[in-house]
Amino acid sequence: MSINPRFDEYHLNVFGDRWAFLAEALKQAGLKQNKVSVGLKTGCSKDFIFSQGSMACIPREVGGHYQLDLASVLAVSALNLNPGAKILDLCAAPGGKALVSQLVVGGEGEWHLNELSQGRLSRLKSVIREFSPVHQDSLHFYKRDASKWGLTEKNIYDFVICDVPCSGEAHLLNSPSHLKRWTPRSSKNLAVRQHAILCAALETVRPGGKILYSTCSINPQENDGIIQRLLKKRMDRVEIIAPTLSGIFSGEPTQYGVEFFPDKCEYGPIYFSVLKKI
Ligand SMILES: C[S@@+](CC[C@H](N)C(=O)[O-])C[C@H]1O[C@@H](n2cnc3c(N)ncnc32)[C@H](O)[C@@H]1O
Repeated sequence: MSINPRFDEYHLNVFGDRWAFLAEALKQAGLKQNKVSVGLKTGCSKDFIFSQGSMACIPREVGGHYQLDLASVLAVSALNLNPGAKILDLCAAPGGKALVSQLVVGGEGEWHLNELSQGRLSRLKSVIREFSPVHQDSLHFYKRDASKWGLTEKNIYDFVICDVPCSGEAHLLNSPSHLKRWTPRSSKNLAVRQHAILCAALETVRPGGKILYSTCSINPQENDGIIQRLLKKRMDRVEIIAPTLSGIFSGEPTQYGVEFFPDKCEYGPIYFSVLKKI
C-alpha cells in the first residue's frame, strides 16, 4: 500500500485484485527508465528487437543512441508514417516520440515540435540536435499552449502526435511528495486539459490525416475516457484505427486503443489510440 490511502482506494476500485501487482510493477517501471535505444538501421547492430522503416530499436546497453521505453516506439509505429509527411508533435519534450517519428521515415519530412515549458523545450532541442537525422530547415520549434493550436492552423498536418501531460502513476509511486498531494480531482483536472489538447489536434490535422493520442497513465478516464468524450462531440469527424501490432508485443486491447502495463509486459505503462480525421 502507498502513503496515500485515497490513491490506493481509487485504484483498487478500478483494478480490483490486480492493483497490488500493478502498483508494484509500476513502482519498478518508474525506477528503470530507458529500456531500448533507437537509431538509424544502418548504424545499428544486427540484433535489433524491433524495426520499422529506417529505424531500429536495440537493447539499451548500446551507446550513442537515444534511450526510451519500447512502448513509445510501438505507439509511434502505429501511425504508419510515410516519408515526406508534415508532422506536428503538440507536447514534444523531451523528444522521444518526435525522434522515433523522424527515424522511422529516415528524416524525410517536415516537423513542427511544440512544448509549453521553456526548460523542457531547451532539452527537446538538444535531444533533436544530438540524435535526429532531420535537416535543420525541416525542423520548427514552438513554445505554445497545445490546446490553442487548432484555433488558426486548421486542416494542415498529415500526422499529429498528442502525447499529453498525464497522472504518470509510475512516477507518482516513486515521488512521495507528489503522491501525497494526489486526489481523484488531480486526474479529473488533467482529463480536462487532455480533452482540450486532443480537440486542438483534431482541428489541425487534415481530413484523412491521423492523430496518435497517448499517455503514460493507467487511469481509464485519461485514456479511453478522453477518446469517448471526443467521439461524443465529434463522432462525424473521426474514426478509430485499430493498431496492428506484431504478435510478439503483448498489449491489451481496450475499447478505443491499446494499453501496455508493466505487470503484464516488460515495458510501459503506456496507453495509445490512433484516430483518423474524416
Ligand atoms: C508526456 S510529456 C511528452 C513526452 C514526449 N512526447 C516524449 O515522447 O518524449 C508531456 C509534455 O507536455 C508538456 N505540456 C504540458 N501542458 C502543455 C500544453 N498545454 N501545451 C504544450 N505542452 C504541454 C509538458 O511540459 C511535457 O513536456
